[in-house]
Amino acid sequence: MSSQMYDTILRRGKLLHPSGSSATVDIAIEDGKIAAIAPSLGQSARLELELQGQIVSPPFVESHVHLDSALTVGEPRWNQSGTLFEGIEIWRDRKRDLTLEDVKQRAITTLKQQAMQGVLFVRTHADVSEKNLIALKGLLEVRDHVKDWITVQVVAFPQDGVYGSPGNAALLEEALVLGADAVGGIPHYELTREDGVRSVHQIFDLAQQYNRLIDIHCDEIDDDQSRFLEVVAACAFRTGMGARVTASHTTALGSYNNAYALKLMGFLQRTSLNFIANPLINITLQGRTDTYPKRRGVTRVKELWQQGQNVSLGHDCIQDPWYSLGTGNMLDVANMAVHVCQMTGTAEIDACYSMVTWNGAKTLHIEHQYGIEEGKPANLIVLNADSQYEAIRRRASVRYVISQGKLLACTEPAVSQWKLGSGE
Ligand code: FE2
Repeated sequence: MSSQMYDTILRRGKLLHPSGSSATVDIAIEDGKIAAIAPSLGQSARLELELQGQIVSPPFVESHVHLDSALTVGEPRWNQSGTLFEGIEIWRDRKRDLTLEDVKQRAITTLKQQAMQGVLFVRTHADVSEKNLIALKGLLEVRDHVKDWITVQVVAFPQDGVYGSPGNAALLEEALVLGADAVGGIPHYELTREDGVRSVHQIFDLAQQYNRLIDIHCDEIDDDQSRFLEVVAACAFRTGMGARVTASHTTALGSYNNAYALKLMGFLQRTSLNFIANPLINITLQGRTDTYPKRRGVTRVKELWQQGQNVSLGHDCIQDPWYSLGTGNMLDVANMAVHVCQMTGTAEIDACYSMVTWNGAKTLHIEHQYGIEEGKPANLIVLNADSQYEAIRRRASVRYVISQGKLLACTEPAVSQWKLGSGE
């Protein structure tokens, strides 16, 4: 037996692979990195965790959340209609009172909630339609403040449109100068269709000029004539930037007629575009103008996945004007995707798990630092489940969260006891 002493060893964990397969192994951690993975390690460690066949997974990836508005539900009023547009009006009022401290405190509280539930990589949008860029500056400070335990990307997101007000385009560019990781947009909310198309071209120009990623809120509406995804796809195809580009929401794709959708899906296949669906919020936000039949308002997740596009999932909102619920748990998101997207086959359920892990890492363009392999940073989670199916079905608790080699959080699963007839 070797005398080498590791920092941590996880024993008898079921290590998940993106293919859906798994193997029971010991995993050793040293100096913040994965030092060894083997069926059985003879060495000892200062911290040893016996997993008894529980699954070990790379951390959850939250690929789409708005931390600047998180935890503001009811401020200054509740969204009674439940529509996207009432949400935007409420947020316009709430953001008049934003301060750096307000943004930072709510964002860090939300990130801690998410990290304790196994999320260690987050892409957040920051509203840059506000003249002092408070939301952006607050989230850039947060990105730095939390970097020792969670990785945050910030998207400069022009909530009111790039051309919705004079000065918005300049604010978007200023956000990149200040250090935003990605350029965002909202073409379906620009004043005209022409402005929407122009905004997409401007976003690609800025991304190339500043060497940033792109993540566009694209066609988040039930209008089957909202067709900015084709513009994003064309720009991605012509620039070759597809793998660095994300189309978020694309809910109108769920409303397009099949003849148009079939043509568009073929064009999408010629790009490496990433897609993000937010099933928790879009099942509640969309379909509000329908009577019956009432649309689901979520993009064609299954069909995009079937044709090999990278699809990941996000919360979008956690207790804000657009979505009053949300706990930060990515298994809630995956569970809802199984339902709303009808991903109930065995491979489909596993795919929904991949959409909150490996696929999210691909969307965030961080695959080089993500995954459980010798030499990579030791970021991993242990779930109180023995398969992806059980994790999603029971929304299993995350027993251990290890970030950059350190034990960040642990959770004792709730235990229920049958009392009737027990004599107590
Ligand atoms: Fe969003």
